[in-house]
Amino acid sequence: MAKKKLILDFDPGLDDISASLMLFNNCDKVSVELLTVSGGNVDIKYSLNNALLLAEKFCPYQVEVAAGANSPLDGTERINAGDVHGETGIGSTLKIKKPKKKALTIAADEALFEKLNLSKQKLCILAIGPLTNVALLLRKHPEIRKKIGAIVCMGGAIDGEGNYTPYAEYNFLWDADAAKEVIESGVKFILCPIEIAHRTPITKRELSRFYTSDERGKLLKAMFENASDPNIRFGFAFHDSCAAAFVIKPSLFTCQKCNIEIVVNKKKKEHAQTFCHYNKKGKNYVIYPKNNGKLKKFILENTFKG
Ligand code: RIB
Ligand code: CA
Repeated sequence: MAKKKLILDFDPGLDDISASLMLFNNCDKVSVELLTVSGGNVDIKYSLNNALLLAEKFCPYQVEVAAGANSPLDGTERINAGDVHGETGIGSTLKIKKPKKKALTIAADEALFEKLNLSKQKLCILAIGPLTNVALLLRKHPEIRKKIGAIVCMGGAIDGEGNYTPYAEYNFLWDADAAKEVIESGVKFILCPIEIAHRTPITKRELSRFYTSDERGKLLKAMFENASDPNIRFGFAFHDSCAAAFVIKPSLFTCQKCNIEIVVNKKKKEHAQTFCHYNKKGKNYVIYPKNNGKLKKFILENTFKG
């Protein structure tokens, strides 16, 4: 079966890093053609550094990295998730290292355009951070939509509360305008909402068996040993890994047609709340695991193997 080719747009962050490791571990099935970064979880000076280190130390093939948005489309101050991911996005204990690898000199949205435009085949965009880079791409180059096979997005809260406000999930809250524009762009949009990972929390005990003495094990231990997620009592929610698992093994999930609606009104407490209207003629899709235990097992076995 031909490898799936995708672009990873992310804001590394702990679960972004885990999702990346899972993709790199499955290089026989998936090829990451480009990494584009935003300042979602932490300031882009940190998320870009983490992306370059990931590409340099853990990706088994060459992949370029492009830096993108550090604030939402409306230019307002970015919100920050350092309380969950640590100030530098790799937990609270690791000293950040300087990668040798350099980022591309063009911005993420232009790197996305170039990669898609030059590709002989449609590419999937796996978006596991705010959607600002993707929205900028679609604003500047609407014709490029025909080169995007699908946007698989970790975001929103459909069947449950938000994780940053009772209504809003973090990625969509960070830039609700961008989320609305991408959802309504006409590109095949597949949503992986936060309730999936909330229903498959991975406990510290389950994680600890992967704290091996090699570089990967040391990184994982440093990242997760002291990590805490206010939404999960005894573990961590690997939101981004759930979306990556769908790209690698879609048969783990149901995928239903719908129309996704997002509230964009900062004056309302429901700002960035998302609704799913199931409809066979819908333009969007939402995924859910067929079996939470099997998804958790897949994530553990495919993320942390060396
Ligand atoms: O709400 C969860 C999402 O926000 C994940 O992508 C996490 O990395 C943060 O970006
Ligand atoms: Ca993320």
